[in-house]
Amino acid sequence: MSAFLIDGKAAARQLRERLAQDVSAFAKRHGRAPGLAVILVGTDPASEVYVRNKVLQTEEVGMHSFEYRLPADTPEERLLAQIDTLNRDDRVDGILVQLPLPAGIDVTRVIERIDPAKDVDGFTIANAGRLATGLDALVPCTPTGVMFLLRNLHPTLVGMNALVIGASNIVGKPMARLLLQERCTVTIAHSKTVDLEARCRQADILVVATGVPQMIPGDWVKPGATVIDVGISRIKQENGTTKLVGDVHFESAVERAGAITPVPGGVGPMTIACLLANTLSAAQRRTEVQSHL
Ligand code: GUN
Repeated sequence: MSAFLIDGKAAARQLRERLAQDVSAFAKRHGRAPGLAVILVGTDPASEVYVRNKVLQTEEVGMHSFEYRLPADTPEERLLAQIDTLNRDDRVDGILVQLPLPAGIDVTRVIERIDPAKDVDGFTIANAGRLATGLDALVPCTPTGVMFLLRNLHPTLVGMNALVIGASNIVGKPMARLLLQERCTVTIAHSKTVDLEARCRQADILVVATGVPQMIPGDWVKPGATVIDVGISRIKQENGTTKLVGDVHFESAVERAGAITPVPGGVGPMTIACLLANTLSAAQRRTEVQSHL
């Protein structure tokens, strides 16, 4: 039997449509649309594509987009000064610095310079700490998108065994926090985990975010499990052409899983939609705080 395919493209479209309505209501109430500033340092081709998509979709839901492109040899102090300016700019509700940054720039110093109230990536220590302690926070976009897909699929996640493979600050750790909040029993696996196969076989929910193409074979998947594949890599096939694949071997996993995200078209489209949702929510919080002063 073949698994249910989780349509991230359709879910992202639905979310954007809802956001467009909420953005329009916000603009009517406050006399301005929410604004998202994106900073790209250098000319990494993958980052250029992400940034272009972010700008297009920001405008599509009716928000203001502010785009800053800085040369690869930009001094760190110049980047920090740009962030300071955006922190003070009332038209800007969200600030995103596209990663990776060129070598020689201290990523932590850059991220920590962003006002946590405008940190729509949820990467600052303040937002990570708020999420970890169960406080209201801006939460990283990819795990937020995954939770959105899981909630569409399962009325409740309470008591399920969740295995998150990959322990990054951007995906794995916040993903585990969110699953724990839903009262799953959560395991985080990483490159030193012993007997990953046995752990996979017990997982009702399997989230894979390692960046290693097709590392999880289908026969490791528990029959009926929900498989969320965050990876996206381009691999060369035997016939010389290339294709996009995830971290899970899709063709075999689809035969065992209950539901699975395809690559592309699964988790990916949700990430930008959640970035826009975070920007609106940052705008709402900031204006509410101001109107209470
Ligand atoms: N580069 C790849 N993914 C991301 C992301 O989610 N946020 C930022 N800022 N950079 C990225």
